[in-house]
Amino acid sequence: MSIFENKKILIAGGAGFVGSNLTKAISSQFPATIFVVDNLMSSEKENIQGIPNVDFIQGTIADDAILEKLYSEGVDYIFHLSTYHGNQSSIHDPIADHDNNLITSIKLFDKFKNDQRVKKIVYSAAGCAVAEKSVLEASATVEEDIVSLKMDSPYSISKIVGEFYAVYYHKQHQTPIVRARFQNVYGPGEVLGAGQWRGTPATVWRNVTPTFIYKAIMGMPMQLENAGSGSRDFIFVDDIVRGLISCAEFGSAGDVYNLASGKETTIKEWAELILKLTDSKSTLEILPRRDWDTSIKRFGSTVKSKEILNFEAHTDAEVGLKKTIEWTKSNILFIKSCIEKHKNILGVDY
Ligand SMILES: NC(=O)c1ccc[n+]([C@@H]2O[C@H](COP(=O)([O-])OP(=O)(O)OC[C@H]3O[C@@H](n4cnc5c(N)ncnc54)[C@H](O)[C@@H]3O)[C@@H](O)[C@H]2O)c1
Repeated sequence: MSIFENKKILIAGGAGFVGSNLTKAISSQFPATIFVVDNLMSSEKENIQGIPNVDFIQGTIADDAILEKLYSEGVDYIFHLSTYHGNQSSIHDPIADHDNNLITSIKLFDKFKNDQRVKKIVYSAAGCAVAEKSVLEASATVEEDIVSLKMDSPYSISKIVGEFYAVYYHKQHQTPIVRARFQNVYGPGEVLGAGQWRGTPATVWRNVTPTFIYKAIMGMPMQLENAGSGSRDFIFVDDIVRGLISCAEFGSAGDVYNLASGKETTIKEWAELILKLTDSKSTLEILPRRDWDTSIKRFGSTVKSKEILNFEAHTDAEVGLKKTIEWTKSNILFIKSCIEKHKNILGVDY
């Protein structure tokens, strides 16, 4: 029997890429209700349309009235996935990041800090905030690695402060918060251009995987930032969803777990695999190093999550990418419409 059967679940940021995949997965496990709270800052409500048992509340999770409504309803599990997406948007507008990525965490934790009905709060932490500052070679980031004061972006600051608060509320109030630290997630449901304009082209070109897949399908040149030498740990969204659910079920309150594949892949290798799987003639353009990015190469250790959560990412990269490419092709008109809504602001024709 699922831990979610007949239970009330809150998913903050549940209309987003990871959130909508999690919402779908939990919806199939007979919950009483899933409250999805999302202000659609970087998502579209189509992501969660038609999913059974969803009560969608459009607004910010920092809104006192929304928090009070949820508190009086009572919830059993909380997943906090809301964020101001992503690094570059936060560099452009640190205050918007603060309002949607930092205040959100403290207000949510504070509201539910002593609520005995809540069995677990799972906070989506970011691997980039603890990744070593490595240009030439990376070693697997472990959960207990030392955190630097030199963060690359307000996004990273907010994500790590969210972790500080998670640890604080657990220590002070025994609030059952578990931190799930993601590496780079890819998969169906990440819509380029989703949500509101956030000040830079990164509103459209979110993460490297959906961007490369779209450009490969469209025959557009694909840009390799950081001279293509950067590396990441790519993890398929179905694996992340399983990992989040494992954190809710088996994670120790107050603790942190990497959700990673443990495999380091260079951005160039990733681009070449996408070119092969899409049978694309797109060219690769080498761009210089991103001036704000100091952890060029990174991947996560899987030892602790395997040992304690019994969690392993098992989706093979080719299988995960093929599913993502298929999803992109079937949703290409929707994705194009989300990209094109920013065309006038950006003044560039996509
Ligand atoms: N995708 C990744 O590779 C990755 C890596 C590390 C960590 N994470 C974390 O995972 C979580 C989900 O990321 P994602 O990739 O699905 O991003 P996303 O942008 O698709 O989802 C974030 C959601 O939060 C919503 N949101 C923004 N401000 C809000 C607010 N004030 N109140 C309520 N909702 C708000 C957005 O509209 C969006 O639906 C985030 O917390 C992110 O920091 C993601």
